[in-house]
Order: sequence, then C-alpha cells, then structure tokens
Amino acid sequence: MAKAQTYYQCENCGRKTPRYMGRCPACGEWNTLKEVIEEPPEPVKKRSGGSSNAGPTLRSTPMRLKDIPAKDDARWVVPVEEFSRVLGGGIVPGSVVLVGGDPGIGKTTLLTQIAAVVAESVGKVLYVSGEESVRQIKMRAERLQINSENLYLVTETNLEAILDHAQTVQPQLMIVDSIQTTYSDDKPSSAGTVSQIRECTARLQIFAKSSGTAVFLVGHVTKEGMIAGPRVLEHIVDTVLYLEGDSFQAYRLLRSVKNRFGATSEVGVFEMRDVGMAEVSNPSEAFLAERLVNAPGSGIVVTMEGTRPLLVEVQALASATAYPNPRRTANGVDSNRLQLVTAVLSRRVGMRLFDQDVFVNVIGGLTIDEPAADLAIAVAIASSVWDRPVPADLAIIGEIGLSGELRAVSQLSARLREASKLGFKRCLIPKTVRRGDPMPEGIKAIPYRRLMDALQFALPREAGAKDGKGQVDTVPDDGGG
Ligand code: TYD
Ligand code: MG
Repeated sequence: MAKAQTYYQCENCGRKTPRYMGRCPACGEWNTLKEVIEEPPEPVKKRSGGSSNAGPTLRSTPMRLKDIPAKDDARWVVPVEEFSRVLGGGIVPGSVVLVGGDPGIGKTTLLTQIAAVVAESVGKVLYVSGEESVRQIKMRAERLQINSENLYLVTETNLEAILDHAQTVQPQLMIVDSIQTTYSDDKPSSAGTVSQIRECTARLQIFAKSSGTAVFLVGHVTKEGMIAGPRVLEHIVDTVLYLEGDSFQAYRLLRSVKNRFGATSEVGVFEMRDVGMAEVSNPSEAFLAERLVNAPGSGIVVTMEGTRPLLVEVQALASATAYPNPRRTANGVDSNRLQLVTAVLSRRVGMRLFDQDVFVNVIGGLTIDEPAADLAIAVAIASSVWDRPVPADLAIIGEIGLSGELRAVSQLSARLREASKLGFKRCLIPKTVRRGDPMPEGIKAIPYRRLMDALQFALPREAGAKDGKGQVDTVPDDGGG
C-alpha cells in the first residue's frame, strides 16, 4: 500500500524539493518552501480495450475545424468600459479569471461593484467572501450604493460548501474572495498552501467549464511576488488580471497579463474614491493634470499600455551627491533602464553625472516598462542638469541605443494621435520609423537620429546661440508609405 508522500514546494514559483530549504533554489526567494503532503493516488484502472462499461464515459471526439461553431459573440458585456476592455470585450461564460493585487489595493471594492453591475445587466451573481462577514460586505455595499436584486452574498471558505451554494443559486458569475482563504476537504493541508490553492482552483475551473458560470478568483500578492501561489495558478486559469497602483495615490491600473480570450497587457484605469472605484476614461488627461508647465526636469512621454497610448509625465532631478557612488533612483521605470540612460548621457553626450544623484519618477503611480520612454527620461534628466524647461507643447518618444542613437518604436502613429488629441503640437521621435506607420495630421513629428541632437532641439541654449544643426523639417526616411 502506497504511503502519503511529503515534499516541499515553493509558494512563489512552484519548484519542488525533497527536503526543506530556507531559500528556493529556483527563484531565490526566502522562506517560500512549504510542506506538501501528497495522498497516494487511487489505483489506476486499466483501460479496457473494447467495451466501455465503467460508469459515464467522458471521452472526447476529434472534430473537423470547420464544423466547430464559432461563438465569439458569447460574451457578457459589462457596462464598465475600463473593465470590459481589459477582459477583451466582456466576460466569457465558463471562464476563470484571477484578479491579483496587493492587500488593500481595492480588489474587493472593484469586484463588489462589478458584481452589482453584472447582477443588473446579466443575471445572478454569487459573491463568496472568505475574509469579511456578510454584514461587513453589506456595509461596504451601502457605502458603494449598491443594491441589486440579483446579487447573492455568502461567507464561506470551504470549497465543497461553495460549490453547493453555486448549485443552489445557479449564478452566471461567481466571485471567490479570496483563493487563499479557500480550502478543500480533499487535501489535508491548511488554506493558503500551494496544494490547497491549486486544488481549489482546478476544481473551480472544472465547475466553471461544466456549468458555464464565469468564476473570478481574488488572489493576494505582495510587492516582492506572490503570497502563496498565484504564480502557480497562472497557467491553470484563463485570464490573469493584476490591480496595481500606489496605495498613497488614487489611481489604480487593472492590467491583463494573460488572456486566453483577448489581447494581453490591456489596461483599465480607475480612481479610488470614497464611494468606490470610478472609471477614468481619459487617463492621459488625468495623469497630466498636475503638471507644472515650464518647470525643468519634466518630459512628457507617450507610452503604450497594450493597445492604448497613454501620456505620462516623467520627472527627473539631478542633485550634487554626498556619496562616493552617486545614486540612481528610479520610481516607475526600470532601474537598469535608468542606468543605461545615464551612462549614455555621460559617455555619448558628455553630461557630467558622476557627481550627481539622479532621481527619476513617473507621475500617477504608473510603471513604464518599455524602452520607448528612454528619450523622455534622458530629456528630463538633461532638463534638470541644465536647468532648462522642455517646451510645453512637446511630447517625446524614442528608445536609446548604447551608441547614443535613437531607435524606432512600435505603434508610432497611435502614440502621435494621442499626443495630438491632448493638445501637443510637436513630438520628438526617432528618425527611423517602422514601415506602415503613417504620420497623423495635427502634430508635427520631429525626427532625429542621435540623442545629442534631440537634446539640443528639446533644450536649446539661449536663443541664437546655436542653430540649424538638427534637420528639423525632414521627412522620415521610410515613413512615406
Ligand atoms: P479593498 O477593496 O478592501 O482591498 P483588497 O480587497 O484589495 O484588499 O480596499 C481597501 C481600501 O480601499 C481601504 O484602505 C479603504 C479603501 N476604500 C476607499 O477608499 N473607498 C471605498 O469606497 C472603499 C470601499 C474602500
Ligand atoms: Mg479584499
């Protein structure tokens, strides 16, 4: 008779080891290995060759591709546009969506609101909370001014009980808040461990697929990574959304990092108010609202969040250092990217940065992770070092290479259109433009090949000192198509 097997599994990356270690050998996280007790598997029944008499068979049969009905219209459109977009147009029946985020970021608030909206527009919604009592949820709902006929609440952490409730209520959408507090009787370990989380998710996935109920799972995440497992879940569920933002700032970004039914890296923007999450349908405007025009050390970049262009202010401050190694502090941009930009500024532009601390900050709690923001970072730093403001009507787009060259970025026309929409008249861009990226009307693209020349243009010395160097009016090489 087989014995129960014990091993240790990392809550962050899922790596298994036979004995305990303080640090995961795979992902390097500390104290993430947790004991897992695996029950011996049921004896495997031999496949009988001909007769199928062992209960109801769930055999699959291959179908011709052309015979499979395409049912893409089967989505429930949620009339919260910022939310629908992130899901790729609406909720897909029978799908499982993981909504992750730091504790306190607003997952419960957002999902309570979504639950109410779906209850109004689609049908029954069951909200299962393992963290708050029904009264607490009711108080929150009152604050959010939610009062929907079709919204059912229950406080429950036991998976079997949750599935029973789902049987009774027959909801279109079920929200399980959170997956870390849910446990199944089938596993001996306590709630929140990798094996529980994985088991519960897998069972909920089966439930969703067989009943057509869409299931949203809430998963808590820490700054460093995941508390107990959402990472291990990412491949089980259909869609993974992350709610992020600074808890000191009001903006919250809902980002899709995986989506079997739509594009990834779509982003929805919300603002946390005292009556819940409000949609921000024109985020560029919101992000630029507090901008000081004509202050040195600031540049406006057009970054792409999925298919959506966003205008964001990048600020930089250079100040004399008190340390032998000057600091490079990045907030909202990758610190390696900042190192690269400062190195190129020192070596290729000859800027004196070795005795300067450099701080870079992205406004609005946003994180930019694409290199197209390089040029804006460089311009903001130069603007601070030289103490000259960037013209108020100038937006900045471009990646910087190690030779100090400006490199092409993707989706240039969409970025320029957004800048134009918000009243920018000119935009610094790399001279090489991807083919098939037409220049929109209403905004003048100013192409440069070298960082040095772009800086001269954006931050000219006193008028008349130096002129006519950068070929300002030339049309990009291959952008004509
Ligand atoms: P919550 O949704 O409970 O976060 P999570 O489920 O991700 O842990 O949000 C908690 C925070 O949101 C809390 O600090 C209070 C704040 N909040 C508002 O600012 N406005 C509101 O309308 C609500 C309900 C909460
Ligand atoms: Mg919560």
